[in-house]
Amino acid sequence: MKKFTLITVAIASIISLTALMNNPVSAQTVQRTKPISDDVLMIAKKSCIKCHAEPGKKMALSHVNLSKWDTYTAEKQAAKASAMCNMITKGKMPPKEFKEKNPDFVLTKDEIKIICDWSASIQVTKK
Ligand code: HEC
Repeated sequence: MKKFTLITVAIASIISLTALMNNPVSAQTVQRTKPISDDVLMIAKKSCIKCHAEPGKKMALSHVNLSKWDTYTAEKQAAKASAMCNMITKGKMPPKEFKEKNPDFVLTKDEIKIICDWSASIQVTKK
């Protein structure tokens, strides 16, 4: 019985070690383009994802598809992020009707700032 426990523990550690080792690798791959930061993602999940992530709304997805974010090039991410900042700063997103139905999803000033700061941080610097 003891031996069995030991083996179980050994296997579990190997699995978690592999997971640990795999993580930095995937982090590296997305570093060329940047993953959406957690605080931005939280806001997007609340206010944008209903339309801008699959299944979402076709029209919305054609502009910004957060489900496919990782497949965007760094340039595309930068352009989309600044469009996001632009739209929310002007109060055009989320759409008016959506905001009326879901007043809680209206972005606060702080949330707008978080998205715009993030957008500024991922802009591709031109050489
Ligand atoms: C109720 C659905 C809905 C929600 C919620 C929503 N959008 Fe949209 N969004 C749309 C639609 C539909 C379009 C396409 C509008 C058009 O073509 O006129 C769009 C377009 C956009 C565009 C492209 C605009 C352009 O002209 O380039 C951006 C950027 C955008 N949304 C950002 C956001 C952000 C950021 C949020 C969350 C804060 C958000 N949207 C929430 C439906 C939504």
